[in-house]
Amino acid sequence: MKKASIITYGCQMNVNESAKMSNIFQSLGYEMTENIDESDLIFLNTCTVREGAATQIYGKLGELKHIKAARGSIIGVTGCFAQEQGRELLKKFPQIDIIMGNQNIGKIPQALDEIEHKTEKHIVYTDCEDDLPPRLDADFESQKTASISITYGCNNFCTYCIVPYVRGRERSVPLDQIIHDVEKYAKKGYKEIILLGQNVNSYGKDFKNGDNFAKLLREICKVEGDFIVRFVSPHPRDFTDEVIDVIAENEKIARSLHLPLQSGSTKILKAMNRGYTKEQYIALAEKIKERIPGVALTADIIVGFPGETEEDFQDTLDVVQRIQFENCFMFMYSIRRGTKAATMENQIDEDVKKDRLQRLIALQNSCSLEESKTYLGKTVRVLVEGESKKNKEVLSGRTSTNKVVLFKGDKDLEGKFVNVKINECKTWTLYGEIVE
Ligand code: SAH
Ligand code: SF4
Ligand code: F3S
Repeated sequence: MKKASIITYGCQMNVNESAKMSNIFQSLGYEMTENIDESDLIFLNTCTVREGAATQIYGKLGELKHIKAARGSIIGVTGCFAQEQGRELLKKFPQIDIIMGNQNIGKIPQALDEIEHKTEKHIVYTDCEDDLPPRLDADFESQKTASISITYGCNNFCTYCIVPYVRGRERSVPLDQIIHDVEKYAKKGYKEIILLGQNVNSYGKDFKNGDNFAKLLREICKVEGDFIVRFVSPHPRDFTDEVIDVIAENEKIARSLHLPLQSGSTKILKAMNRGYTKEQYIALAEKIKERIPGVALTADIIVGFPGETEEDFQDTLDVVQRIQFENCFMFMYSIRRGTKAATMENQIDEDVKKDRLQRLIALQNSCSLEESKTYLGKTVRVLVEGESKKNKEVLSGRTSTNKVVLFKGDKDLEGKFVNVKINECKTWTLYGEIVE
């Protein structure tokens, strides 16, 4: 049997699209493997959000050169880096057979056919950027977690960000199609459904029928089944009271919200084109905490955006200190050619960026530990994910607030919800025992 592998970089959107690609390959008769050395077909699903992503991809492509020489494997590149680079990639890596942009993975079967029959030497397809892509079935690696793209693209043009250029304009998937998918996954027994979009709470803005994110969440919660709904990412500017109410009213929606901050300085937020001030962000986060008791907040933060002074950075630390995020994804600003911030004056030295990142991480780690400690003695509902990777003796699962919990238990509990009493906590992990 022919074998295929997919290497995925980047965000959940790419994970979702890799699951769709995996389904395509299997329907073409390939068996999926993680071992690229034995693959007849190797696809890299790429990201270009920060500089480091490209470096990693170039490294991997170098490695694939040898595998292709040895086995004659077909090599494909999809995702945001493929969309951005297009045919340019062939100059450096002529051994790539297929380059497919984000909108075009549905055309992979055709492309493979042409490569296999040698009617074309290379297939490069990066068009139709602004169409709604065709609906494709996905084969998720996990039996517990499924994801659904509810919007594609982004219209926000945050000045540092390449995503609007590689994912096209914002477009929403019709509500009934999303509900159909939720019903399908709930019936199949998935316990966690993640809704995906660059700005999920602008869902439906391109419709004339008034459907919006709040309505979508309400309809999803009506679907029968014991599952948890998560979504990434909402934009603080578009977080309506109605959405907060729907979450508060529905236990099916996870008590964990990702609320990208990016910076705590109003001046920098303006230069980033984020559409909110430091005070507005804090007010929103506090309102959410008050109306949704027990909610855990996480955020993305960039340090060293052009023009960021020590004082601006102190504003970021101040917000982190005040809001007490459960966890943060923290990045040094990385220049993306073609974006507005790339040509801004006052780019920050790497050393200063590194120093700020270290200080931010140190503060966040102490906040995360404090947050963890609030679980001591409490009993929490946990979705069992399976044996812990590090220690086969214990099971690993996650709470509705997305905390990792380790506890002793039978492997048969995998995919089920159990109650666990917490008796020890570390920065990222809680430890406990199953109770009735
Ligand atoms: N649409 C989502 C995610 C965008 S990309 C959102 O708006 O939240 C994920 C994260 O990468 C962003 O939240 C941002 O923190 C970070 N990021 C994007 N562009 C970046 C850049 N040029 N340099 C550093 N980090 C960046
Ligand atoms: Fe990028 Fe901003 Fe769009 Fe997120 S909202 S994808 S950060 S432009
Ligand atoms: Fe990367 Fe594209 Fe996601 S640039 S973060 S894979 S939308």
